[in-house]
Amino acid sequence: MLSRDILVQQLPFVLEAVPFDFLSDHYTGKVRDTFRLKQLRIMVTTDRLSCFDRVVTTVPFKGQVLNNLAHFWFRATSDIVSNHVVAVPDPNVLVARDCQILPVEVVVRAYLTGSAWRDYAAGNLVSGVRIPAGMRQSQRFEVPIVTPSTKEGRGKHDEPISEQEIISRGLVPGSVWEEVRSVALRLFQRGTEIAARQGLLLVDTKYEFGIERGQLVLADEIHTLDSSRFWVAESYHERFARGESPVMLDKEPTRQWLLAQGFKGEGPIPHFTDQHRVEIAEHYIASYERITGAVFEGVGGDPLPRIEKALRSLL
Ligand SMILES: Nc1ncnc2c1ncn2[C@@H]1O[C@H](COP(=O)(O)OP(=O)(O)OP(=O)(O)O)[C@@H](O)[C@H]1O
Ligand SMILES: [Mg+2]
Repeated sequence: MLSRDILVQQLPFVLEAVPFDFLSDHYTGKVRDTFRLKQLRIMVTTDRLSCFDRVVTTVPFKGQVLNNLAHFWFRATSDIVSNHVVAVPDPNVLVARDCQILPVEVVVRAYLTGSAWRDYAAGNLVSGVRIPAGMRQSQRFEVPIVTPSTKEGRGKHDEPISEQEIISRGLVPGSVWEEVRSVALRLFQRGTEIAARQGLLLVDTKYEFGIERGQLVLADEIHTLDSSRFWVAESYHERFARGESPVMLDKEPTRQWLLAQGFKGEGPIPHFTDQHRVEIAEHYIASYERITGAVFEGVGGDPLPRIEKALRSLL
């Protein structure tokens, strides 16, 4: 684990924006800046932290943690479905195959929590799925369920959508959706097994798929702390029995802090102190180490010249 001093020293060097003009087709997502280079999509994972679809602060080393973690999982699942990874030339950079991204986020859930719990508690279906009556918050489903949402453009919130509607609205052809659903469940199963070896529960996650040359490709990120929830297995049963929330490795503590400040995604963003940002960095790094079982080797200092050099060498 990097020392607190190193995290503090990295604060002035957080990667907030990627102002490169030597690459085309620059797209700034909430967390990543992407560019096109020939048939490739260059993805630079920044240190931006997004909650409720807004960028709320930056966190030292978060980009490196995320990019490394995604790479770990892409390698661990490459036998299930081909993925978009071509190379990782820098801790913040993923060189990917440029894909046509399917316009749905494929959410898989093993436990009733988050927005699914909120929808269920309000008496609604969850992406068209009827969840059995009498379930409690954080309870495990008999088998994992697929609860997709639409992938909306910038500034809009993604909305739950049923599998039936995905097909009837022509967002994804039925035969492709069948493959997507079965691959997503197999990826989730693999994630569950690997997490279990580390004493963790993979709670839920979101996948994005693309089509390239007619082939289904796993794109974007996989089983990262931005796209997934992980809980500590050990304490789960006791805490669940007592009606308490599980020990989490994800963004939920930050979400809860924002909610306590009265922030739900609209209006001014509460101020994060440097100490708070460093604590979040520690949480991200500790979670990375817990999930992968490896020590996080962060590369400190100003990332922009380093990234620029790595990208120019690809031209
Ligand atoms: N292989 C790929 N080819 C093309 N686009 C991709 C690929 N992998 C991921 N993407 C897209 O790149 C973007 C990654 O940026 P980021 O995750 O920061 O965006 P986001 O804020 O989640 O989403 P958005 O801003 O698009 O709503 C996403 O729009 C994602 O769909
Ligand atoms: Mg994203």
